[in-house]
Amino acid sequence: MRFTRVKGVHDIYEPEVQLYQKVEEISREVFRVYGFKEIRLPIIEYTELFQRSIGSTTDIVEKEMYTFNDRAGRSITLRPEGTAGAVRAYIENGFYALPSPQKFYYMGPMFRYERPQAGRYRQFHQIGVEAFGVAEPIMDAEVILLLRHLLYELGFNKLQIELNSLGCPECRPFYRDKLLDFFSLKIKAFCSDCQRRFEKNPLRLLDCKVPQCIKAREDAPSILDSLCENCKAHFNRVISYLDYMGISFSVTPTLVRGLDYYTRTIFEIKSESLGGQNAIAAGGRYDNLVEEFGGPPTPAIGFAIGVERLVSLLKIEKAVELLPDCYIAFIGEEAERLSLRMGEGLRQKGFWIEIGTGGSLKSQLRKADRLKARYAIIIGEEEIKRSVIRWKRLSDGQEGECSEEEIEKIINSNQKSESKVRN
Ligand code: HAM
Repeated sequence: MRFTRVKGVHDIYEPEVQLYQKVEEISREVFRVYGFKEIRLPIIEYTELFQRSIGSTTDIVEKEMYTFNDRAGRSITLRPEGTAGAVRAYIENGFYALPSPQKFYYMGPMFRYERPQAGRYRQFHQIGVEAFGVAEPIMDAEVILLLRHLLYELGFNKLQIELNSLGCPECRPFYRDKLLDFFSLKIKAFCSDCQRRFEKNPLRLLDCKVPQCIKAREDAPSILDSLCENCKAHFNRVISYLDYMGISFSVTPTLVRGLDYYTRTIFEIKSESLGGQNAIAAGGRYDNLVEEFGGPPTPAIGFAIGVERLVSLLKIEKAVELLPDCYIAFIGEEAERLSLRMGEGLRQKGFWIEIGTGGSLKSQLRKADRLKARYAIIIGEEEIKRSVIRWKRLSDGQEGECSEEEIEKIINSNQKSESKVRN
């Protein structure tokens, strides 16, 4: 019996896993300087949390959630995203009583039952942030600056930010009506998905990728013409801060999101080199969600990065092969004990040490070669008797003898194995 991976999931291993580690490491460092603290959220939540936040007519809730009943018959869902859980945790743990803003970040797997393709998985990873408690546009600017800073640290400085405003419960209904009027006149020109969604969620029709729909909605009304005075002022302030900070972005009035909780500012970062699934990161404001979930009125904004897509942009060649610093080959029982002691000592100094398995010297050295160790240390009866160890640099065959104390210097002279990914 041979088992395979579940469809749409993937194993992450060397050398690609280094890129995941690097993205996580750099993210933590950037979050630190912006004052975002880690929150580790559960992978399972009650299904209703996602239905009520993401929205019951969205693709995610309609057809992409991994939902099951637990043994007590409660409906549980594997989280398809992190915002809903963060809002639940914010309220449940009483974070609203702490000084505002409360700023969190999270990293981890998310689950969506989507059709797998390049850049689209059923289990994928997000790194996300959520900032609670600030309604002013300066927080929108800060969160976008944070995203840009993080991408810059990872070596991306040309990615374009798309920006839009979805208005608020005051002005969006007017826009919705305008859209319904517009679409109802030509709904036959749209694909069957759009026709089905049109009455419940007309904004989603702006996002459909089917060519006939793109064409049919060319002259659809722009949401930016329907914003109320407050939303317009908010959006203009965000734009002016981004301009002031020299951030390159484009205002995209057709940008909408696949989750219903957004209000006002939304943004997305795409990369043309990714093909079909080209959104690397996306987010926006959700000023009403905390209150809708029973918390005090608390504006909030956040984003999430798709780590798989970021990693595929980082290119696998940038990951370097990690190699052992030293392979200790030994012959005899006393040498075995010495190998164990020496190996531990060198590991405590930060060297990657592989200890041999005994057997013939030839077979142990062959193994050291196969592992591409930088050095081999050889300890046999003769060496024990003379209180020396033999070393061999495997790249060029150079060899010599030294005392136990000297070996660290010899290995160090050729620097430790690379522990960081070069960018
Ligand atoms: P989202 O746009 O659904 O937003 O997902 C964010 C990112 O996750 C996407 O831009 C994409 O890079 C990645 N992603 C989504 N689905 C998949 C998939 N099936 N396979 C691989 N990558 C995927 C959210 O999840 C919001 N919670 C973001 C947010 C946080 N808004 C406010 N705060």
